[in-house]
Amino acid sequence: MSTQQKQTRRVTINTLREMKGRGEKIACLTAYDVSFAQLLDHAGIDVVLVGDSLGMVIQGLNSTIPVTMDEMVYHGKVVSRGLRHALLVMDMPFMSDASTAQAVANAGRFMKECGANMVKLEGGADQRELVETLTRLGIPVCAHLGLQPQRVHKLGGYKVQGRDTESADKMLNDARVLEQAGADLLLLECVPDALARKLSEQSKIPVIGIGAGSQTDGQVLVLYDILGISVGHIPKFSKNYMLQSGSIQQSVKQYIEEVKSVSFPAAEHTFN
Ligand code: KIV
Repeated sequence: MSTQQKQTRRVTINTLREMKGRGEKIACLTAYDVSFAQLLDHAGIDVVLVGDSLGMVIQGLNSTIPVTMDEMVYHGKVVSRGLRHALLVMDMPFMSDASTAQAVANAGRFMKECGANMVKLEGGADQRELVETLTRLGIPVCAHLGLQPQRVHKLGGYKVQGRDTESADKMLNDARVLEQAGADLLLLECVPDALARKLSEQSKIPVIGIGAGSQTDGQVLVLYDILGISVGHIPKFSKNYMLQSGSIQQSVKQYIEEVKSVSFPAAEHTFN
Protein backbone atom coordinates (compact mmCIF):
# COMPACT_ATOMS: atom_id res chain seq x y z
CA MET A 1 0.00 0.00 0.00
CA SER A 2 1.35 3.46 -0.93
CA THR A 3 1.99 6.13 1.74
CA GLN A 4 -0.82 8.20 0.22
CA GLN A 5 -3.32 5.30 0.39
CA LYS A 6 -2.24 4.68 3.98
CA GLN A 7 -2.70 8.35 4.85
CA THR A 8 -6.19 8.65 3.34
CA ARG A 9 -7.46 5.61 5.28
CA ARG A 10 -9.02 6.59 8.59
CA VAL A 11 -7.12 5.46 11.67
CA THR A 12 -9.35 3.31 13.90
CA ILE A 13 -8.84 1.48 17.18
CA ASN A 14 -7.99 -1.60 15.07
CA THR A 15 -5.25 0.35 13.25
CA LEU A 16 -3.74 1.31 16.61
CA ARG A 17 -3.82 -2.30 17.85
CA GLU A 18 -2.20 -3.48 14.61
CA MET A 19 0.50 -0.85 14.98
CA LYS A 20 1.23 -2.07 18.51
CA GLY A 21 1.29 -5.65 17.18
CA ARG A 22 3.96 -4.90 14.60
CA GLY A 23 5.92 -2.52 16.84
CA GLU A 24 5.14 0.62 14.82
CA LYS A 25 5.08 3.67 17.11
CA ILE A 26 1.93 5.79 17.29
CA ALA A 27 2.41 9.57 16.89
CA CYS A 28 -0.11 11.86 18.57
CA LEU A 29 -0.32 15.63 19.06
CA THR A 30 -2.92 17.95 20.51
CA ALA A 31 -4.88 20.40 18.32
CA TYR A 32 -7.48 23.02 19.11
CA ASP A 33 -8.47 24.51 15.71
CA VAL A 34 -9.12 23.47 12.12
CA SER A 35 -5.94 24.89 10.54
CA PHE A 36 -3.59 23.02 12.84
CA ALA A 37 -5.80 19.91 12.65
CA GLN A 38 -5.48 19.94 8.86
CA LEU A 39 -1.74 20.52 9.01
CA LEU A 40 -1.25 17.57 11.41
CA ASP A 41 -3.50 15.35 9.32
CA HIS A 42 -1.57 16.16 6.12
CA ALA A 43 1.71 15.48 7.91
CA GLY A 44 0.47 11.95 8.70
CA ILE A 45 -0.20 12.15 12.43
CA ASP A 46 -2.00 9.01 13.69
CA VAL A 47 -4.00 10.48 16.57
CA VAL A 48 -5.15 14.04 17.35
CA LEU A 49 -6.15 14.89 20.91
CA VAL A 50 -8.37 17.84 21.74
CA GLY A 51 -6.87 18.14 25.20
CA ASP A 52 -8.16 20.16 28.10
CA SER A 53 -4.61 21.60 28.00
CA LEU A 54 -6.45 24.19 25.89
CA GLY A 55 -7.21 25.81 29.25
CA MET A 56 -3.55 26.71 29.51
CA VAL A 57 -2.37 27.16 25.91
CA ILE A 58 -5.50 28.79 24.46
CA GLN A 59 -7.22 30.39 27.43
CA GLY A 60 -4.28 31.44 29.63
CA LEU A 61 -5.53 29.59 32.71
CA ASN A 62 -3.09 28.10 35.20
CA SER A 63 -4.75 24.64 35.28
CA THR A 64 -7.19 22.50 33.28
CA ILE A 65 -9.79 22.57 36.06
CA PRO A 66 -11.99 25.48 34.85
CA VAL A 67 -12.35 24.11 31.28
CA THR A 68 -16.03 23.44 30.47
CA MET A 69 -17.87 20.90 28.31
CA ASP A 70 -19.14 23.66 25.99
CA GLU A 71 -15.60 24.89 25.41
CA MET A 72 -14.41 21.35 24.64
CA VAL A 73 -17.33 20.80 22.25
CA TYR A 74 -16.52 24.04 20.41
CA HIS A 75 -12.86 23.03 19.90
CA GLY A 76 -13.79 19.43 19.10
CA LYS A 77 -16.16 20.54 16.34
CA VAL A 78 -13.60 22.78 14.64
CA VAL A 79 -10.76 20.26 14.92
CA SER A 80 -12.83 17.44 13.48
CA ARG A 81 -13.48 19.52 10.32
CA GLY A 82 -9.75 19.37 9.58
CA LEU A 83 -9.28 15.60 9.91
CA ARG A 84 -9.55 13.00 7.14
CA HIS A 85 -7.04 10.44 8.41
CA ALA A 86 -6.22 10.81 12.11
CA LEU A 87 -8.25 9.34 14.96
CA LEU A 88 -9.87 12.08 17.04
CA VAL A 89 -9.70 11.73 20.84
CA MET A 90 -11.42 14.25 23.11
CA ASP A 91 -10.66 14.93 26.76
CA MET A 92 -13.52 14.71 29.24
CA PRO A 93 -13.01 17.92 31.28
CA PHE A 94 -13.00 18.16 35.08
CA MET A 95 -16.38 17.18 36.64
CA SER A 96 -17.88 16.13 33.29
CA ASP A 97 -17.74 12.55 34.64
CA ALA A 98 -18.91 13.33 38.19
CA SER A 99 -21.68 10.72 37.80
CA THR A 100 -22.13 7.91 35.29
CA ALA A 101 -25.25 9.58 33.86
CA GLN A 102 -23.43 12.90 33.36
CA ALA A 103 -20.41 11.19 31.83
CA VAL A 104 -22.54 9.20 29.39
CA ALA A 105 -24.40 12.34 28.29
CA ASN A 106 -21.15 14.30 27.89
CA ALA A 107 -19.25 11.54 26.05
CA GLY A 108 -22.33 11.22 23.81
CA ARG A 109 -22.05 14.95 22.98
CA PHE A 110 -18.42 14.47 21.87
CA MET A 111 -19.41 11.58 19.62
CA LYS A 112 -22.57 13.15 18.17
CA GLU A 113 -21.75 16.87 18.03
CA CYS A 114 -18.01 16.73 17.33
CA GLY A 115 -17.55 13.43 15.52
CA ALA A 116 -15.03 12.23 18.12
CA ASN A 117 -13.74 8.67 17.74
CA MET A 118 -12.77 8.21 21.39
CA VAL A 119 -13.03 9.99 24.75
CA LYS A 120 -10.21 10.30 27.28
CA LEU A 121 -10.87 9.91 31.00
CA GLU A 122 -8.51 10.60 33.87
CA GLY A 123 -8.71 8.16 36.81
CA GLY A 124 -7.78 4.63 37.84
CA ALA A 125 -9.72 1.51 38.79
CA ASP A 126 -12.41 3.80 40.25
CA GLN A 127 -13.45 4.49 36.63
CA ARG A 128 -14.15 0.80 35.92
CA GLU A 129 -17.93 1.02 35.94
CA LEU A 130 -17.93 4.11 33.74
CA VAL A 131 -15.53 2.52 31.22
CA GLU A 132 -17.76 -0.59 31.12
CA THR A 133 -20.84 1.56 30.50
CA LEU A 134 -19.21 3.63 27.74
CA THR A 135 -17.87 0.44 26.14
CA ARG A 136 -21.35 -1.13 26.22
CA LEU A 137 -22.68 1.99 24.48
CA GLY A 138 -20.03 1.80 21.75
CA ILE A 139 -17.90 4.72 22.93
CA PRO A 140 -14.16 3.94 22.78
CA VAL A 141 -12.21 5.06 25.85
CA CYS A 142 -8.63 6.21 26.37
CA ALA A 143 -7.75 5.78 30.06
CA HIS A 144 -5.30 8.30 31.54
CA LEU A 145 -2.95 7.19 34.36
CA GLY A 146 0.13 8.67 36.02
CA LEU A 147 -0.02 12.43 36.50
CA GLN A 148 -3.68 13.42 36.18
CA PRO A 149 -3.76 17.24 35.92
CA GLN A 150 -7.47 17.40 36.87
CA ARG A 151 -6.50 15.84 40.24
CA VAL A 152 -3.56 18.18 40.84
CA HIS A 153 -4.93 19.37 44.18
CA LYS A 154 -5.34 15.81 45.41
CA LEU A 155 -1.87 14.84 44.11
CA GLY A 156 -0.29 17.86 45.81
CA GLY A 157 1.24 19.28 42.63
CA TYR A 158 2.43 18.33 39.13
CA LYS A 159 4.78 15.47 40.03
CA VAL A 160 6.11 12.29 38.46
CA GLN A 161 3.84 9.40 39.56
CA GLY A 162 4.64 5.75 40.37
CA ARG A 163 8.12 6.28 41.78
CA ASP A 164 7.65 3.96 44.80
CA THR A 165 6.67 0.28 44.73
CA GLU A 166 3.22 0.82 46.23
CA SER A 167 2.13 3.48 43.73
CA ALA A 168 3.75 1.59 40.84
CA ASP A 169 1.83 -1.59 41.78
CA LYS A 170 -1.38 0.40 42.05
CA MET A 171 -0.83 1.82 38.55
CA LEU A 172 -0.18 -1.66 37.13
CA ASN A 173 -3.43 -2.84 38.71
CA ASP A 174 -5.39 0.24 37.54
CA ALA A 175 -4.22 -0.42 33.98
CA ARG A 176 -5.33 -4.07 34.16
CA VAL A 177 -8.75 -3.15 35.52
CA LEU A 178 -9.35 -0.45 32.92
CA GLU A 179 -8.28 -2.70 30.06
CA GLN A 180 -10.60 -5.46 31.31
CA ALA A 181 -13.41 -2.90 31.57
CA GLY A 182 -12.98 -2.20 27.84
CA ALA A 183 -10.54 0.72 27.49
CA ASP A 184 -9.03 0.80 23.98
CA LEU A 185 -6.04 3.01 24.65
CA LEU A 186 -4.00 3.99 27.71
CA LEU A 187 -2.23 7.32 28.15
CA LEU A 188 0.58 7.59 30.72
CA GLU A 189 1.70 11.01 31.88
CA CYS A 190 4.93 11.61 33.85
CA VAL A 191 5.82 8.05 34.77
CA PRO A 192 9.35 6.62 35.21
CA ASP A 193 10.44 4.84 32.02
CA ALA A 194 10.88 1.39 33.64
CA LEU A 195 7.30 1.43 34.93
CA ALA A 196 5.96 2.73 31.59
CA ARG A 197 7.76 -0.12 29.88
CA LYS A 198 6.16 -2.69 32.22
CA LEU A 199 2.74 -1.14 31.66
CA SER A 200 3.20 -1.29 27.88
CA GLU A 201 4.34 -4.92 28.04
CA GLN A 202 1.46 -6.06 30.25
CA SER A 203 -1.22 -4.24 28.17
CA LYS A 204 -2.78 -5.68 25.02
CA ILE A 205 -4.13 -2.22 24.22
CA PRO A 206 -1.70 0.42 22.91
CA VAL A 207 -0.03 2.68 25.48
CA ILE A 208 0.84 6.28 24.60
CA GLY A 209 3.22 8.24 26.79
CA ILE A 210 3.99 11.85 27.63
CA GLY A 211 6.99 12.04 29.91
CA ALA A 212 6.95 8.22 30.11
CA GLY A 213 10.12 7.31 28.20
CA SER A 214 10.62 5.72 24.81
CA GLN A 215 9.32 2.20 25.53
CA THR A 216 5.59 2.96 25.24
CA ASP A 217 3.71 2.17 22.01
CA GLY A 218 3.49 5.83 21.07
CA GLN A 219 4.01 9.43 22.14
CA VAL A 220 1.87 12.50 22.62
CA LEU A 221 2.92 16.12 23.17
CA VAL A 222 1.15 19.45 23.37
CA LEU A 223 1.38 21.02 19.89
CA TYR A 224 2.25 24.50 21.16
CA ASP A 225 5.16 23.08 23.19
CA ILE A 226 6.76 21.48 20.11
CA LEU A 227 6.34 24.78 18.24
CA GLY A 228 7.91 26.76 21.09
CA ILE A 229 4.89 29.05 21.51
CA SER A 230 3.54 27.86 24.87
CA VAL A 231 3.65 30.52 27.54
CA GLY A 232 5.37 29.77 30.86
CA HIS A 233 7.02 26.56 32.03
CA ILE A 234 8.00 24.06 29.31
CA PRO A 235 8.16 20.55 30.74
CA LYS A 236 11.39 18.53 30.64
CA PHE A 237 9.69 15.82 28.56
CA SER A 238 8.85 18.18 25.69
CA LYS A 239 10.98 19.33 22.76
CA ASN A 240 10.90 22.54 20.71
CA TYR A 241 11.19 21.33 17.10
CA MET A 242 11.15 24.88 15.68
CA LEU A 243 14.72 25.36 16.89
CA GLN A 244 16.02 22.87 14.34
CA SER A 245 13.44 22.89 11.54
CA GLY A 246 12.37 26.51 11.12
CA SER A 247 8.85 25.80 9.77
CA ILE A 248 5.68 24.53 11.42
CA GLN A 249 5.10 21.81 8.78
CA GLN A 250 8.69 20.61 9.06
CA SER A 251 8.56 20.61 12.87
CA VAL A 252 5.47 18.40 12.88
CA LYS A 253 6.99 16.05 10.27
CA GLN A 254 10.19 15.81 12.25
CA TYR A 255 8.30 15.04 15.47
CA ILE A 256 6.43 12.22 13.68
CA GLU A 257 9.66 10.85 12.20
CA GLU A 258 11.45 10.94 15.56
CA VAL A 259 8.56 9.17 17.31
CA LYS A 260 8.46 6.48 14.59
CA SER A 261 12.23 5.96 14.68
CA VAL A 262 12.30 6.08 18.51
CA SER A 263 14.76 8.98 18.52
CA PHE A 264 12.21 10.97 20.55
CA PRO A 265 12.02 10.90 23.52
CA ALA A 266 15.74 10.89 24.31
CA ALA A 267 17.32 10.41 27.74
CA GLU A 268 17.01 14.12 28.55
CA HIS A 269 13.20 13.95 28.13
CA THR A 270 12.84 10.88 30.35
CA PHE A 271 12.23 10.29 34.08
CA ASN A 272 14.05 7.28 35.52
O1 KIV B 1 -4.87 17.88 27.84
C1 KIV B 1 -3.92 17.39 27.24
O2 KIV B 1 -3.38 17.97 26.28
C2 KIV B 1 -3.41 16.09 27.64
C3 KIV B 1 -2.04 15.76 27.21
C4 KIV B 1 -1.07 16.45 28.09
C5 KIV B 1 -1.82 14.33 27.14
O3 KIV B 1 -4.07 15.38 28.35
